[in-house]
Amino acid sequence: MLYTPIKFRNIELKNRWVMSPMCMYSCENGLANDFHFVHYGSRAQGGTGLIMVEATGVEPRGRITNHCMGIWNDEQAAELGKIVHFVHSRSESKIGIQLAHAGRKGSTWNNLQIPLEEGWETIAPSGLPYHPSERIPHVLTVDEIREQVQNFKEAARRAVKAGFDIIEIHGAHGYLIHQFLSPLSNIRTDEYGGSFENRTRFLVEIVDAVNEELDENTALFVRISGTEYAENGWNINDSVELAKILKEHAVDLVDVSSGGNIHGAKISVFDGYQVPFSSQVRNEAGVKTGAVGLITKVEQAEGILQKGEADLIFVAREILRNPYIAVQGSFEMKENCFFPHQYTRAKIST
Ligand SMILES: Cc1cc2nc3c(=O)[nH]c(=O)nc-3n(C[C@H](O)[C@H](O)[C@H](O)COP(=O)(O)O)c2cc1C
Repeated sequence: MLYTPIKFRNIELKNRWVMSPMCMYSCENGLANDFHFVHYGSRAQGGTGLIMVEATGVEPRGRITNHCMGIWNDEQAAELGKIVHFVHSRSESKIGIQLAHAGRKGSTWNNLQIPLEEGWETIAPSGLPYHPSERIPHVLTVDEIREQVQNFKEAARRAVKAGFDIIEIHGAHGYLIHQFLSPLSNIRTDEYGGSFENRTRFLVEIVDAVNEELDENTALFVRISGTEYAENGWNINDSVELAKILKEHAVDLVDVSSGGNIHGAKISVFDGYQVPFSSQVRNEAGVKTGAVGLITKVEQAEGILQKGEADLIFVAREILRNPYIAVQGSFEMKENCFFPHQYTRAKIST
């Protein structure tokens, strides 16, 4: 299974290993640089089926920190395009980009809000800060919500032009889209708040707007938090219902993570702790899913796929430790995995 190709629209992944999106906080003015070129390039050399570039701001206030990646201008897209070109020309990996807006969780460093002069006024569906000590975010007007939808659409257009194979919309971890989804962070009384349909409207509008920029050569994923571990908050049943809607709106895969919206929420963390959320979304909504969270071993990853709990395996910290996890796993499982031809002699140990 791990080495069985899978197709999303016309995009075929050679295996099920995905480099999970991970902020590297290493940009100036949102621009990718040499660090990112090597960082993502080495995972392509490691045989990774899909590389997902870190959360990338669709506007300057969409970043978490001043050093996050951005794609709100053409120069940023052009730098990202160099990485895409390398991945496509030197490996069989596919490469995606996670489009994001931090909302009320922006303007921080090391998870602490930075002063307004060094950062920016954050935005949110409602005037509720993530932590009581933080500044009250600016409440988006309906016109401003529409501008944000447009920002995602334009970012998607640039990403397609840069050559990305997959666009992932970041709807998880308490960032702007998740802030709209949750009744605990969204207490609006207009068409973007209140009912489930109203709270999901912002995401669905983004999905539709982004899809207008895509054809069969670029697939669309959405990352969600399966639950936010809070009473009366967003939960796994909401996620299943949302996934059914996303499927109707031509989303190709739901990448199921959890948490991030409620400060101090109690999360029980163990190997594969988020896999049950992926499994429930996959099996009850009938969509393809990605599982993520403490998946570190080849056997474990294979088991998740075999049991029908997910279609893709997203790996974050383990792939930072081991960029060659995909190719090494293939040796273990006696399967084939692409590997730079320059390294062929390393395929045998003698
Ligand atoms: C350094 C770091 C940065 C991260 N940045 C992002 C991000 O940009 N977008 C996102 O959706 N998740 C982000 N995450 C979460 C990971 O993608 C992943 O969901 C989480 O680490 C659990 O997977 P793991 O146990 O394999 O590390 C980040 C995680 C780490 C460790």
